Amino acid sequence: MTLQVEQAAAAGPAAGVATGSAAAQRSPAARWPRLDALAYGADYNPEQWPEEVWAEDVALMHEAGVNLISLGIFSWALLEPEPGRFEFGWLDRVLGLLHEAGIAVDLATPTASTPAWFLAQYPHVRPVTSEGVVLGGSARQTYCPHAPEYRAASRQIAEQLAMRYAAHPAVVMWHVHNEYGSPTAECYCPVSAAAFRDWLRARYGSLDALNAAWTTSFWGQQYSAWEQIDAPRRAPMADVNPTHRLDFQRFTSESLLELYTAERDVIRAHTTAAGRAEVPITTNLQLINCKSLDFWAWSAQTDVAANDHYLSAERPDNHIELALCADFTRSVGGGGPWLLMEHSTSAVSWQPRNLAKRPGEMRRNSLAHVARGADGALFFQWRASRGGGEKFHSAMVPHGGTGSRIWREVVGLGADLAALRPVQCSTTVAEAALLWDWESWWALGHTFRPSVDLDFKERQLAYYEALWRAHVSADFAHPSADLSRYRMVVVPQMYLCREEWAENLRQYVRGGGTLVVSYFSGIVDEDDSVYLGGYPGALRDLLGVLVEEFLPLRADWTVRLAGQLEEPYPGTATVWAEDIELRGAEAVLTYADGPAEGKPAVTRHAFGNGHAWYVSTRPDAETLREILRLAAADADVTFDTETPDTLELVRRKASDETSYLFAINHGQQEAAVAASGVDMLTGEAFIGSVHIPAGSVRVVREA
Ligand code: GLA
Repeated sequence: MTLQVEQAAAAGPAAGVATGSAAAQRSPAARWPRLDALAYGADYNPEQWPEEVWAEDVALMHEAGVNLISLGIFSWALLEPEPGRFEFGWLDRVLGLLHEAGIAVDLATPTASTPAWFLAQYPHVRPVTSEGVVLGGSARQTYCPHAPEYRAASRQIAEQLAMRYAAHPAVVMWHVHNEYGSPTAECYCPVSAAAFRDWLRARYGSLDALNAAWTTSFWGQQYSAWEQIDAPRRAPMADVNPTHRLDFQRFTSESLLELYTAERDVIRAHTTAAGRAEVPITTNLQLINCKSLDFWAWSAQTDVAANDHYLSAERPDNHIELALCADFTRSVGGGGPWLLMEHSTSAVSWQPRNLAKRPGEMRRNSLAHVARGADGALFFQWRASRGGGEKFHSAMVPHGGTGSRIWREVVGLGADLAALRPVQCSTTVAEAALLWDWESWWALGHTFRPSVDLDFKERQLAYYEALWRAHVSADFAHPSADLSRYRMVVVPQMYLCREEWAENLRQYVRGGGTLVVSYFSGIVDEDDSVYLGGYPGALRDLLGVLVEEFLPLRADWTVRLAGQLEEPYPGTATVWAEDIELRGAEAVLTYADGPAEGKPAVTRHAFGNGHAWYVSTRPDAETLREILRLAAADADVTFDTETPDTLELVRRKASDETSYLFAINHGQQEAAVAASGVDMLTGEAFIGSVHIPAGSVRVVREA
């Protein structure tokens, strides 16, 4: 198999440039690495091994069906052993070996790990926490994002690599940095504080505007000169001015994005000069697990949406969170194919208890990502390290070598992905969307909120899980996105709601959509200032309710719900209640006891041609499912709770309408689904009903 880059014209336009939190609008046919199959491979760190091992690596990659390797991710100290002296000999040799073997390379810039000489030369470049702690260097991600020395040095090493390898035929993609924002994001050093002031000047223009937006009249915080404004470092009170902090979060996400685009642009200049402008450039993100970066804005700047996903090992049914991350990556990528840049063959080494994957689990995990639109599955890492911080992290080649179960499963997965080659470029279609935006996540997380139990991600997962268990495929969308293609839109948490987002939701429901909004949404504007006149200010008219007072519950408090659901529902609720008056909506459920006894708990409002539902509390999982079943009926969305919720069912559709049904059985029993076609993994044909053995996966090209 030859995986050379074709010198053909770019497949599509460059990624659109988005500012702020605008949703990515990218053609699915934008730049993609020129592979003739689904991508399969790993981060490869050959510098950890003597050269004799490299030839064996390449032979084993062949055996496993590997076709794409991410290379050089942490190699800065080797590539530039002293300031301005570059050594590329070893990288030339590795690239040569891989190319000869027909293995394509996703070449990284090593800027996530600053060399020791760099930190010794520029000690002030080390990042500073909000408490003033200067972080040390014996790890990775040790840099201040605003330090001119870091910016210059990272751009220089990226340029050196681009100059040398832009035309290399093995290089089919560029991998800038590694996981921006994880863990280094905010820096509170004087250089960062000065950059923050510049950012504020550009945002507000005048101190009057800033003082108004930040409500500095509270606690006498008025600023009379820009120099008085600091980074929002740890203050005597539990938290600083919340809008000050929110702006620092916006600023941080944008600053890190500048680092990425600076490297990307210098690489693009060289790939273009080499006649290879079509080679995609991206960076691997940790979507939804990295709170500090607004990935809607980020993904608009990358050619390929690329995610690193690691299971929360101890979480029951962690394959549902995996599905959420996969759906999220597809969504930020504009719906087209995306790349699973890292996951693990078995245990990781950084969680409190690193549970190993059991036989068949890696296969289910990897193929679940593919089911949800990934056109490839890569791991961290190729060969398990002997030493260093991550030596107990699983890999494609484990410490036990190729006589192991993991290796056999790695080879098996390579064969599966080869068999699934025809699914490339097909897309996963969703009828529902969940809204997720970073500003709301940031703002909700500040202190002085009505309850510590208000949790953005917890609500997102709860609503996603209820849809997942009912086999409803979902996208994620930014609140400003065009929602008209979705029958049902769910807002699990949107504390901060810009007026234009509220208008977008009104338009969606007016046009016939079904909207479900969970509590403590629509409360503040972009400055974290409350909408007056009763909660939930921005959404009050749309939801047809008026909330006079929040009634958060004690930690051990469970209240009962009553109303229009079939026995044994509704059940109970926790965390939150509200004093709701109906203003056009009808009560579907009411509080049977607790501080809001007798008041509406779940409401439904006919608005325009659609319906807006409001869930003012945190119902138990079964009651939430039943509420969503009712809303799905309004939306005419199939809500299937007959098929067992251990069976994951997802369809990818090709442009010629070919349908691929992924059926992943996470349960202990054989399961069946009504479908006809041929299992691409085994060649078995099914008519009418497809059975899926316990723990197994079928991908049926439907008849
Ligand atoms: C991250 C990094 C990798 C590695 C893995 C371990 O996602 O990108 O370099 O540290 O985690 O799980």
